[in-house]
Amino acid sequence: MSLKIGVVGLGIMGRGMAINFLKHGFPVYVWNRTPSVADELVAQGATLMASPKEVASSADVIFEVTANDESSRAVWKSPDGILAGAEAKKILIASATLSVQWIDELIALCAQQGFQFCDIPLTGGRIGAETGTLTLLCGGDPTVIKGLQPVFDAIAKKVFYFGQAGRGMRYKLILNFMQALHIVGFGAAMKMAKAHHMDLEKVSEALVERPGGVITKIARDRYFNDADPISFSIEWIVKDLTYVKQYAAELDVPFLDDVLKIYSDALSHGSGHKDWASVNRLAR
Ligand SMILES: NC(=O)c1ccc[n+]([C@@H]2O[C@H](COP(=O)([O-])OP(=O)(O)OC[C@H]3O[C@@H](n4cnc5c(N)ncnc54)[C@H](OP(=O)(O)O)[C@@H]3O)[C@@H](O)[C@H]2O)c1
Repeated sequence: MSLKIGVVGLGIMGRGMAINFLKHGFPVYVWNRTPSVADELVAQGATLMASPKEVASSADVIFEVTANDESSRAVWKSPDGILAGAEAKKILIASATLSVQWIDELIALCAQQGFQFCDIPLTGGRIGAETGTLTLLCGGDPTVIKGLQPVFDAIAKKVFYFGQAGRGMRYKLILNFMQALHIVGFGAAMKMAKAHHMDLEKVSEALVERPGGVITKIARDRYFNDADPISFSIEWIVKDLTYVKQYAAELDVPFLDDVLKIYSDALSHGSGHKDWASVNRLAR
């Protein structure tokens, strides 16, 4: 019989994942703070539960994909939370991007209660979530991770394993720092090109060729046009870079403060719900 999948948090990422679990024939149990968001999924066969606790008691494999440490703590630790509905045989997964402090606390809580826990943050954005082509960044027991491959096949095209629980999140924070740096770097390159009256279409086209890559392409697309709907918000990249700062507190990481300031300024000017790659449009 097919494993039952739980998804707690139906934002851009959780919604896309739930749709693909349904497409692949898994029974899917969902919860969202704003329940009406689940209507579309219920119409496709998902079961809406009254609490994260109920998701955990109904499903075998539970993904948490809410916003930040605050929301994650609430959905794991509250009396109606995932931990209250879990048992040793369930596989509990944190897929939101969270701080190292909170993920380590959550790992310890699960260990104390004998629960199986993996941190599996995501990369691939809205398109990756909606098309089932995410990249999964795993930490946890390698045997558990290996056994989840049929579940991963519904949502991902690539799976990276970084070691024990907590390593997936550590990698994700490094990745988001580097991606944010690349987006802001693209904006700086375009600023120079503009000041020297170069053809911005040509310059950006050439940058997409080399250095190239997914992030240069996203940065170029958003340089000329806003995203509707967005893929990943400025609010959440500020959150991630803040977690990176805590994580790297003992280190002198070049450019981290600069990148965080650029995104924080955009957030404080009311652009939190804009796409993170639109930041260069806002700064022009
Ligand atoms: N979008 C991306 O490209 C991307 C890629 C990789 C990782 N991530 C990470 O994945 C997570 C979700 O991102 P997203 O883009 O899907 O965000 P989103 O669209 O803004 O969705 C956020 C989700 O969190 C829920 N939420 C917010 N505050 C809550 C609270 N206090 N209690 C319970 N639930 C709460 C929201 O519920 P409501 O519907 O009630 O507001 C919604 O389900 C974040 O940690 C993000 O950093 C995002």
